[in-house]
Amino acid sequence: MNIEKLLVQFESLFSNSAEGISSAPGRVNLIGEFTDYNDGYVLPCALQFRTYVAYRRRNDNLVMAYSTNYPGECEAFELDSPITHGTSHWGNYVRAIAYVYQHSNHQFGGLDILISSNVPQGAGLSSSAALEVSLGGALNQAFDLQLNSEQIALLGQQAENDFMNCQCGIMDQLVSAKASHNNALLIDCMSLSIQHYPIPANLALVVINSNFPRKLVESEYNQRRIDCMNAAAKMGVTTLRQATLDDLYSARDNMSINEFKRARHVISENQRVLQAAKALQHDELGKLSELMRESHRSLREDFEVTVPATDGLVEICHHTLGKDCATRMTGGGFGGAVICICHHENVPKIVDAISSQYLEIFGLEETIYVANAAEGLVSTLFENHKALAEQLR
Ligand code: GLA
Repeated sequence: MNIEKLLVQFESLFSNSAEGISSAPGRVNLIGEFTDYNDGYVLPCALQFRTYVAYRRRNDNLVMAYSTNYPGECEAFELDSPITHGTSHWGNYVRAIAYVYQHSNHQFGGLDILISSNVPQGAGLSSSAALEVSLGGALNQAFDLQLNSEQIALLGQQAENDFMNCQCGIMDQLVSAKASHNNALLIDCMSLSIQHYPIPANLALVVINSNFPRKLVESEYNQRRIDCMNAAAKMGVTTLRQATLDDLYSARDNMSINEFKRARHVISENQRVLQAAKALQHDELGKLSELMRESHRSLREDFEVTVPATDGLVEICHHTLGKDCATRMTGGGFGGAVICICHHENVPKIVDAISSQYLEIFGLEETIYVANAAEGLVSTLFENHKALAEQLR
């Protein structure tokens, strides 16, 4: 991202210079899917792709936002009137953040905002969380709200839950706010405690976006969450984190088939996450491969959130490298991306195999990124643009 260019654009849009800038990354989840809202475990890391928010406080209560990703569009609303939905999707995230910060009694005023993001959108790589966390970081810094990164993450999740109608868990916002360079984060979503697992230097994280158009994702997502809560209630526990597979099989007759299958995925996935963190620690790619293969199977058959395109990408990786790669769908499902962990020298084999087979079989063109586990939220107030640009480059 060219920060200097962003600051020049800010100045030309608002006829005034930015006071600060905040940035937060997208993420890729290595394992632990749909476990976060069941108080379970996840193992994501941040991507090198980030969303930047340059801002300047105003003297009134107007929020005026532009995005370099949507040239010519302007989102403007008053903080004195009730904040309601607007017409643009990206603009609604700005409204959602203002809405939850207001409802949590954080005192802030009007802002001029310029957003710019290179997080791939619609790929299940958490472009929304990157925006929510980056906006939260900007508000926190501009108005000295004294929030820590965990609180900024929780407010981002609340924006999804209370304003965007997506009953997501905390994984995306928490990793976007708290990630650290070169590490995967083992997050216990019950306590929100985090343990860092360095990514072994010989392993490449290959992210393959299926570019499959994602549809009806929110309603399907929310329905899965309801199924999980019902299954937990039928076992007499608050969340699926407290349940074992034995509990599940004992309560099977009281459950619908979907409740049973969703719960079986979550309970078994929690165990896989803990084993995968150990395998990563000991650089055991073969073990990781088994665990991620099983995770994908469970997501396909029990949680039912994969599509033929993501199943196909996983299969191409396995046919190409066998146990020398650990592959599964990643993120919210129904399309989106696949993660393939392999040795650096094998990346060209994966790229070749996918580019020669995927388009032919599925009629879609993939996009492939080799990920670097990056740093989470960074917010900087500045007097000197150049110094800031250096720091964020
Ligand atoms: C989306 C949600 C997360 C999580 C994942 C699935 O990314 O935002 O909270 O539930 O799906 O693991």
